Amino acid sequence: MAAARLVVLVSGSGTNLQALLDAIAADPDGFGAQIVAVGADRAGIAGLERAERAGVPTFVCRVQDFATRDEWDAALAEATAAYEPDLVVSAGFMKIVGKEFLARFGGRFVNTHPALLPSFPGAHGVRDALAYGVRVTGCTVHFVDDGVDTGPIIAQGVVEVRDEDYADGGDALHERIKEVERRLLVDVVGRLARNGYRIEGRKVIIP
Ligand code: GRF
Repeated sequence: MAAARLVVLVSGSGTNLQALLDAIAADPDGFGAQIVAVGADRAGIAGLERAERAGVPTFVCRVQDFATRDEWDAALAEATAAYEPDLVVSAGFMKIVGKEFLARFGGRFVNTHPALLPSFPGAHGVRDALAYGVRVTGCTVHFVDDGVDTGPIIAQGVVEVRDEDYADGGDALHERIKEVERRLLVDVVGRLARNGYRIEGRKVIIP
């Protein structure tokens, strides 16, 4: 079976992207997927450099270059569609996509979030969990729907909160979450690509 084509979207350091690149490079025939392009909502980020180092084509689609958010969304959808992906992975992509993007990639657009959804959605999942005083948190890999971090959950990983996490603002906790998150994302993307999947209501079934 041909490897599933992935477009990965990033906004920052791209360590989740790197984990995918490394897993594919370690087992190019067995992993079941290839990254055909990396897209970003900003230039000059480490995530794009990681893609370039790996010889993967990149594109940048900046909100401020468009008159409206809908035009940006349509351009992002078009740039992504040009690479004919089977799956799109948001790996630290810090933008909410719009109607056009979801119309084209709904049901095959995967996001990773650094909290145990449905708790603490949004851009500050780690900080919000700490502020609430939870003793366990973690990460969630899920399909994207038209809400903010509300789509069907594929897999979750758990991370314990330590007393010292309350003192340092969450940076160390986020690093521990990201270690779990990278392994989870690689595992999920590989299984989706190799086994296929179906979404039944809120349940994701990977045979
Ligand atoms: C991840 O924790 C992701 O869930 C969050 O931002 C982080 C991205 O990290 N939204 P990286 O860019 O993959 O290193």
